[in-house]
Amino acid sequence: MTDKRLRVFSGVQPTGNIHIGNYLGALRQFVALQEENDCIYCIVDLHAITMPKDPAELHAHILDVAALYMAVGLDPKKSILFVQSEVPGHAELSWILTCCSYTGELSRMTQFKDKSRGNESAPTGLFVYPALMAADILLYDADVVPVGQDQRQHIELTRDLAIRVNNRFGEDTFVVPEGRFLKEGARVMALDDPAAKMSKSAENEMSRISLLDDDAKIKKAIMRATTDSDGEIRYDIQKKPGVSNLLAIYGAFAGISAEDVAARYQGQGYGTLKKDLVEITVDALRPIKERFAEIRPSNELARILKDGAARADAIAGPVLARVKERFGLGV
Ligand code: AMP
Ligand code: TRP
Repeated sequence: MTDKRLRVFSGVQPTGNIHIGNYLGALRQFVALQEENDCIYCIVDLHAITMPKDPAELHAHILDVAALYMAVGLDPKKSILFVQSEVPGHAELSWILTCCSYTGELSRMTQFKDKSRGNESAPTGLFVYPALMAADILLYDADVVPVGQDQRQHIELTRDLAIRVNNRFGEDTFVVPEGRFLKEGARVMALDDPAAKMSKSAENEMSRISLLDDDAKIKKAIMRATTDSDGEIRYDIQKKPGVSNLLAIYGAFAGISAEDVAARYQGQGYGTLKKDLVEITVDALRPIKERFAEIRPSNELARILKDGAARADAIAGPVLARVKERFGLGV
């Protein structure tokens, strides 16, 4: 990263079960970036309703993610924390970008393909989801977008849309953003099935470690994690996906590479590696859970989010006005 302060934007969907994949791939980057940059972190509730949601649950999850943002170390004095639907510019710019996107490119998005599986009654919102995500980013002239690997394709589309609009309406219409992906933790796999990514919605609770899981659950999920039968500790994603996933999680928490973890445990059994990983994970999540328990019930949370929305709106307003003027929209 350069010396210049960069504008950073990212978002997390307000669904339950925020897990260590979200933390190691995304949230941990959010915290690291906030000291030296101008960061805006959003709770993307409009994205969450692309699949039907119970209103009371959605509302609770919005506040859960806000409290988790702060529990992992985001400071509302340093970063802007807000809820997407509180700033109307997201929906407005999303429509404009929807009109600039092609049905072909949206059909190729793997997240859409996975979630719709050719189902005729898949919600249209799921299809245009990436245009809303592009709007989130472009609305703030963001330079950098810290995310996990699963968002790479959406970031590419955001860049394509920005470049397409700039070619037509002028190079200074949109800032073309870059994704930021970590080496360790950008793609944490499910503990029960290392071929699938760790996800909030998988049926099997043991497939993930949620940030608020108690110590017994963390232990159970790690000790049961799928490995292989050759008994050799080695980092090799192709041939040893289960063990490699554990090594990557360990490395991400410990701040070392997965290869170095493998070297440290060479010749030892999987049981030892797993037991130590339980300890590292429990220690890493303890302070997050403690802070969450303090922050979540506080009345301050709503005030912080309202204040964040006002600050976000003040940045978004001029960008949206510029874009509308270029397109010839309005009076
Ligand atoms: P979501 O929960 O889909 O809103 O994702 C929030 C952030 O977590 C995004 O930046 C994702 O790329 C990231 N993320 C989600 N799942 C994983 C995973 N299994 N490994 C690493 N990062 C992830
Ligand atoms: N689509 C992202 C996810 O599922 C969440 C998201 C929405 C996002 N808008 C964003 C991430 C803007 C980064 C920037 O993880």
